[in-house]
Amino acid sequence: MGDARKYAVIDPVTGKLDRRIFSDQATYDDEMERIFGRAWLMIGHESLVPEPDDFFHTYMGEDPVILTRDGQGQLHALLNMCRHRGNRVCRVDDGNAKRFMCTYHGWTYCNDGALEYAPGESEAYYDALDRASLGLIQARVETYAGIVFATWAKDAPSLEAYLGDARWYLDTVFNRRDDGMQALGPMKWLEPVNWKTLVDNCSDNYHVPTSHLSSARVQSRFLGRPPLSHEVQFVSPNKHAFVNGHSLTFRDADDNMPRYVHGVSKETMRLFQDYHDATMPEAERRLGSLRARRVQLANHSIFPNGILGLRLALPRGPLKTEFWHFVLVEQDAPEEIKRVIRIGSQANNGAAGLFEQDDVDNWRQVTEASTSRLRRRHTQDLSMGLGHAGPHSDYPGLVSERYISENNQRLFYRRWEEFMNAESWAQIPLDPITAHFDGTATMRG
Ligand code: FES
Ligand SMILES: [Fe+2]
Repeated sequence: MGDARKYAVIDPVTGKLDRRIFSDQATYDDEMERIFGRAWLMIGHESLVPEPDDFFHTYMGEDPVILTRDGQGQLHALLNMCRHRGNRVCRVDDGNAKRFMCTYHGWTYCNDGALEYAPGESEAYYDALDRASLGLIQARVETYAGIVFATWAKDAPSLEAYLGDARWYLDTVFNRRDDGMQALGPMKWLEPVNWKTLVDNCSDNYHVPTSHLSSARVQSRFLGRPPLSHEVQFVSPNKHAFVNGHSLTFRDADDNMPRYVHGVSKETMRLFQDYHDATMPEAERRLGSLRARRVQLANHSIFPNGILGLRLALPRGPLKTEFWHFVLVEQDAPEEIKRVIRIGSQANNGAAGLFEQDDVDNWRQVTEASTSRLRRRHTQDLSMGLGHAGPHSDYPGLVSERYISENNQRLFYRRWEEFMNAESWAQIPLDPITAHFDGTATMRG
């Protein structure tokens, strides 16, 4: 019997990947429905809507969504589509408003989504308009450590189950402090790339010493960063883990050094070291010693399109992706630290960032290679580290033996297949939560 699944794109035995998934329009259309229509999607951060009636305009896949905080403080993700003919009811990026009025015929919605008023309800509609059923379409909303997620799927599991043991790692960056984090930005730009190329890249440390050689040399020379090489990576104790579609690379070190963040240089090292030392007791209380001291999340992605912290890769067709780059800083960190992280983050991964420009060229070419009938006949090779990953006694998820491996890429495309082939959430497997979450940190922060 043949394979009844519609999508079988990654061969788990050989690591061969069908590259048509980076350009095929019909595949893309299925992704919008089967992945972006049902997964929990990162859409923003609570710090973007701190006060009652604040709103922030965002997207779930291709669809415009208004993240609101209503008068009672409740968050909503409202589809920005008037229920009458479909105009957008909000046309600005953010603000504070109790209501949104459609500028076509004037239907007016409360910031909790309810349709409050339609002109001529008695005179034109003869009091027959079923206002109660015509509120803005709402997605389910849940938060993790201040990061706001939403899903269109009524049958989706809880966000906690969706993140699963990935949260054990994510906590080490996003849930370290009692006062939480603050999102700055976003900086937005378009790239001529398929959205999956950069999600795949979040666990690709193999490219770093090659693609980023010149950028890394600049950093060594001017910021005093240690030089990058394949040799350093091959002996690195750092690892990759994979949980429920989420890819995590993490540092395994007990050197009492500050976590690597953008903005660390020889000039600012003292500042970061002092902050690290001063906040360690709090981090240990919240996360336990192992996670506070030794597990330091590095590059990662949250399925499907959350990349490197609070950055969104919004699909805009198979050959285009809109980037939303936020900088997350700890809310009560000293202003000087926030400033250098903000500048460092943009200098690395902003629109004109040194590293970002190296990366975009790779993703553009990977995407472009899938558009030709001849080139797409030949598969990608994702065979690195086959058979060298499994459960680990200290770390949850499926853990790769080495820092350099394509295990996470293979598993990401397998997760992609699971979503693309499922008729409903009931057919999408979810790993149970088995990690031991030492410390006081919770989903709520
Ligand atoms: S389209 Fe919005 S009021 Fe008619
Ligand atoms: Fe890169």
